[in-house]
Amino acid sequence: MTTSVASSDRSGRSRLRTPRWALAGVAALAVTNLAACGGQGSEPAAYPEKEITFVVPFAAGGPTDTVTRLIAEPMSEKLGQQIVVKNVVGAGGTVAAGQVADAEADGYEVLVHHIGMSTAPALYPDLPYQPLTDFKTIGLVTDVPMTIVARKDFEPNTLQELVTYVKANTDTVTLANAGVGAASQLCGLLIEQAMGVDLTEVPYDGTGPALTDLVGGQVDFMCDQTTNTAGQIKSGDIKGYAVTTPEPVEALPDLPTTAEAGLPDVEVGVWHGLYVPADTPDEVVGKLTEALQVALADQTVIDKMADLGTTPVAKDQATPDAHTVKLDEQIQLWTPIIEAAGVKGG
Ligand code: MLT
Repeated sequence: MTTSVASSDRSGRSRLRTPRWALAGVAALAVTNLAACGGQGSEPAAYPEKEITFVVPFAAGGPTDTVTRLIAEPMSEKLGQQIVVKNVVGAGGTVAAGQVADAEADGYEVLVHHIGMSTAPALYPDLPYQPLTDFKTIGLVTDVPMTIVARKDFEPNTLQELVTYVKANTDTVTLANAGVGAASQLCGLLIEQAMGVDLTEVPYDGTGPALTDLVGGQVDFMCDQTTNTAGQIKSGDIKGYAVTTPEPVEALPDLPTTAEAGLPDVEVGVWHGLYVPADTPDEVVGKLTEALQVALADQTVIDKMADLGTTPVAKDQATPDAHTVKLDEQIQLWTPIIEAAGVKGG
């Protein structure tokens, strides 16, 4: 039985029931023809009998894709089946979530999503799924700090200089993000509110491609996860101003916290979790949770996450109950903030 991580081709959608809404787009590299592996789910006791698809709501190479591929390898080992990573982009992650909410409830389509799961209800009034009722949670994965970063030749050198510069150049400064509903968009919103400005936002299918343009100087600044920016900050290919967590980040010792640097209201961490459709058997959920816990205790995962400025959650957080509590709390936290800002997606 082969155990590894691969990426999927478009046929991956063939097993799905007609989705509630048109898919916005799929970006992937062909490795395995999922259709050839047969459509129907298996008995919970025998799960998994074929490869499993992890659906990532943003472009390949970005922070969510990076976290997914990190845990997928040891989870594949534990489950004894190949895990295929499929990137389904669009509408700040809600296209992918809608696709998985509609998938067969057999554990073969798993959504890997983040804080965006909790901001989507307030951002998208016509959201075709309810995060708390249309999914079963598998467990939390990690809570990634964010960084405020800019192209390396951008004039400001400190966060306070950035505030002054942005206020003086509000009409021309560009702020990149991964669309309404993305973590980078949420953090960008907190920055705009803290600075009292309304900037030109440049949306991408993910912060992977946004970072490429930032390194290339096509956009001015962005707020993004350390799992995407740490390497570029350390190499000097981009400027780092601050981290958005209460405590400094060990992997980025030179960066102050936003509180230390004078923007205390820009505080956010990007928590990630796994989801399956609501009717998925508990036995299947249990096997995925167990495999997740094994992956998060894997020394290679722990070391790689540390390099990227984050850590796996504790074992008691990598559970459906803890995950559901987090999701519920975060929906309650962000909904009034987003409604007060009057931001809407779609
Ligand atoms: C990504 O993987 O591209 C990010 O998670 C996007 C975001 O939420 O900012």
